[in-house]
Amino acid sequence: MSEPEWRRLNRANWDERVDVHLGPGGYDLTELRRGAGRLTAVEEALLPPLAGRRVLHLQCHIGSDTLVFAQRGAEVVGLDFSPRAVAAATALAGELGLGEQARFVEADLYDAPQAIGGQFDLVFVNWGAICWLTDIDGWARVVAGFVRPGGMLVMAEGHPAALVMDSGKPTPEGLPGYDAPYFLDGPLLCDEERDYSDPDARLQNRSTQQFFHPLGDVVSALIRHGLTLEVLREHREAAWKMFDCLVPGSDGMWRWPDRAWLPLAYTLAARRSVTNR
Ligand SMILES: C[S@@+](CC[C@H](N)C(=O)[O-])C[C@H]1O[C@@H](n2cnc3c(N)ncnc32)[C@H](O)[C@@H]1O
Repeated sequence: MSEPEWRRLNRANWDERVDVHLGPGGYDLTELRRGAGRLTAVEEALLPPLAGRRVLHLQCHIGSDTLVFAQRGAEVVGLDFSPRAVAAATALAGELGLGEQARFVEADLYDAPQAIGGQFDLVFVNWGAICWLTDIDGWARVVAGFVRPGGMLVMAEGHPAALVMDSGKPTPEGLPGYDAPYFLDGPLLCDEERDYSDPDARLQNRSTQQFFHPLGDVVSALIRHGLTLEVLREHREAAWKMFDCLVPGSDGMWRWPDRAWLPLAYTLAARRSVTNR
């Protein structure tokens, strides 16, 4: 079967970003290389104990967050559909001496059950993952299927109410303006040569197709597939510079310059009950 256009475009874009994120303007891997990698405070607040646990990180990109779990004694599997991301993640694990504890698998999210199988103590999804996926109910089925009874999903994502805004359409006050409807049916066709990490990078594969998933759809789909929602938090900060006007904090997060106009991110934790197989 031939690859759908949205997937081909998105994969070419992500393949290209791998080199950008490994380069001088890319991800800061200093703490990870020191053996002391950390996630953002909003993610750390939801993590269960990790030593000896099995963790699955879906859409793991270059594995920089996945390997934080391995540094804390977890056995980790990362999945991504970009062959370059998987190669980079595997090389990073080797460099950090975590090759025994970390395995990276190249597969589409929707093929993950066949590519990986089994269940995990923690399934983890973070920052800019689900906007690349067409079908949120199918995503929730995959995610929930990987959570063992008593295990949990932890997720940190850009808030859909903020993702409909765009700095390219600023208001007179310099805030981002509306770019797309919250209840958008079908893909948002994007043409963006800039990268969120390296301001100097210019991408060749600049066309992508993205998908909005309203918060209620995400939560309802997880519940429908057997998970119990334990925590849902909306945040005034995001892990990346979502809009030009955002200002960086000493904690590495980006915030509105004055008033918190909209939530920029959300985190959630959901569990499969021990009796729910
Ligand atoms: C913004 S990154 C996720 C954030 C990641 N935690 C990080 O720290 O960079 C999005 C990832 O999703 C992957 N991806 C996009 N669509 C996918 C799909 N259909 N199946 C699997 N991975 C996908 C991309 O290759 C990319 O590595």
